[in-house]
Formats: sequence, structure tokens, C-alpha cells
Amino acid sequence: MKLEGKVACITGSARGLGYAMAKHMATEGAKVVINDIDDVSVSNAVELLRNEGYDASGYVANVASKEQVTAMMESIYDTNGRLDVLVNNAGGSLRTPKILDEIMEEHWDMVLNVNLKGTFLCSQAAVPYMQDGSGGSIINVASIGGRTASIVTGVAYAAAKGGIISFTRRLAKEVGPFGIRVNAIAPGLVISGDRMQETWENMNDVEQNSVFDEIPLRRLGTIEEQASVVTFLASEDSKYMTGTIVDVNGGRFMG
Ligand SMILES: NC(=O)c1ccc[n+]([C@@H]2O[C@H](COP(=O)([O-])OP(=O)(O)OC[C@H]3O[C@@H](n4cnc5c(N)ncnc54)[C@H](O)[C@@H]3O)[C@@H](O)[C@H]2O)c1
Repeated sequence: MKLEGKVACITGSARGLGYAMAKHMATEGAKVVINDIDDVSVSNAVELLRNEGYDASGYVANVASKEQVTAMMESIYDTNGRLDVLVNNAGGSLRTPKILDEIMEEHWDMVLNVNLKGTFLCSQAAVPYMQDGSGGSIINVASIGGRTASIVTGVAYAAAKGGIISFTRRLAKEVGPFGIRVNAIAPGLVISGDRMQETWENMNDVEQNSVFDEIPLRRLGTIEEQASVVTFLASEDSKYMTGTIVDVNGGRFMG
């Protein structure tokens, strides 16, 4: 198994893409830590994974709170004696408007805080525990919306995900000498749960067809197709890769 004995923390993983990533890494032998903002959904996700025989635990924390993420990384390290993989997945448009005129300051702050600041805070808190020479892998979840102008999301999301891409490259340079790798995936549109289903259904036929027209593989991707790339980036299979942005989008954007 590719991640035998490794400890992986996946933020925002009670559902959606994060849950699929946690499950995929667990199938490869990782001990996974499910993080999310509410107690009930974290417990449910942990129970689901344990019922399938996987090694999972949970930690409730808001990734935009320095105090909470610092305590979370410390607790993970104290419990397991190691921290090998961090996936900065918590984020999204968080139901904020996409039209410029409708984006309030609090919408901007929320999207930037969870997506970009959360990625910074979690990475900053995790890196000291990855510096023991055993290697570490940070995988940030960007988006096609940070790679190119997308009709699906607004400027706050685009700015946050574009920021994550620059953050990924800069941090990779800084922590590479310690054997820590930092990469990002940039997913295209994936129906990851009810919210994305709603977003997709709220798009009219013209908008939906314009998405398909742009995808050489002519379909939306699945959550498992994102998760398997994250597992690859977490594993030794990608041990000479750092600072890369992997476009997982059926060819819709080619970086
Ligand atoms: N689904 C897509 O089409 C798509 C495309 C590109 C990128 N992404 C990115 O993938 C990631 C996951 O997306 P998803 O579609 O699974 O979304 P989702 O809404 O289904 O899941 C996001 C999870 O993050 C959690 N979360 C929100 N704020 C948090 C906080 N402050 N602290 C901790 N957890 C928090 C939510 O509770 C939720 O469980 C996001 O970063 C998103 O931007 C998704």
C-alpha cells in the first residue's frame, strides 16, 4: 500500500471531495484525520470510515482560526507521533454571490479566509511536524477558477484559488530543503455533493453546454478521479514533484 503507516490530515473532509480524498488515502493504508467545522458531520464521517475498516479519527476546527489549527496539528502529532500529509481542502465559494456588484465585503473576507488564509494557517502549523527528515507532503486544493476565468465562480473565489497557486510554488521553494513537498490540484467542475448539484442545476443549458464544449473528455469528472491524484501526490510515487499545479479537469484548461 502506498501510504502504509502515514498520518494524513484532510481539512474540510466531512463530505464532498475531502471525504473522497480521506477514503482514498485510507484504502492505501493511511491513518486519516477528518477535519471539519461541525461536530456531528465529523463524527458521522469518521464512523462511516471506521465501519469500512479504515483507521480514521476526527478533529473539529475552523481552518481560518490560527488558535484552532495550531491546537489541531499539535494534537495530531501528539496522538500519532508523526504528521506526513496535509491536504488543504476546506473551501469553496461558500454560497457567496458571483456577480461583482453583489459581493459584499463579508463574502470576500469569508471566501479568502477559509480558502487562502486557511491554507496558510494549516501549512504553517503543520510544517514544524514534518521537518524531522521523514519527508512530508502538502497538497493544496486550488481550482480551474484560479487557473483561468471561469463562468461558474466569482472574483473572490478566483482570487483565493489564484492565491493558493502562488502560495504553493513559493512554499515549495522554502520547505523543499527540509524534504517537504508542496503541490496543488486544480479540479474542474465536480459534482461533489448537494451544493454542487444545485450549482450545476442552476446553470442554464447554454452554460452547461459551454462547459461540455470546453472539455475534450466530454464529461464532468468524479470525486474519485480527484482523490486518486491527491493520493499520488501524497505518496512516494511523486517524490520528485514539488511546486506543481496538477490540472484535473478532463483537459478543459491546459496549464
Ligand atoms: N466541487 C468542485 O467542482 C470543485 C472544483 C474545484 C475546486 N474545488 C475545491 O475543492 C474543495 C472541496 O470542495 P467540495 O465541492 O467538496 O465542497 P463541499 O462544500 O462539499 O465541502 C467543503 C467542506 O469544507 C468544510 N468547511 C467549510 N469551511 C470550513 C472551515 N472554516 N474550516 C473547516 N472546514 C470547513 C465544509 O463544512 C465542507 O464539509 C474546495 O476547496 C473547493 O473550492 C471544488
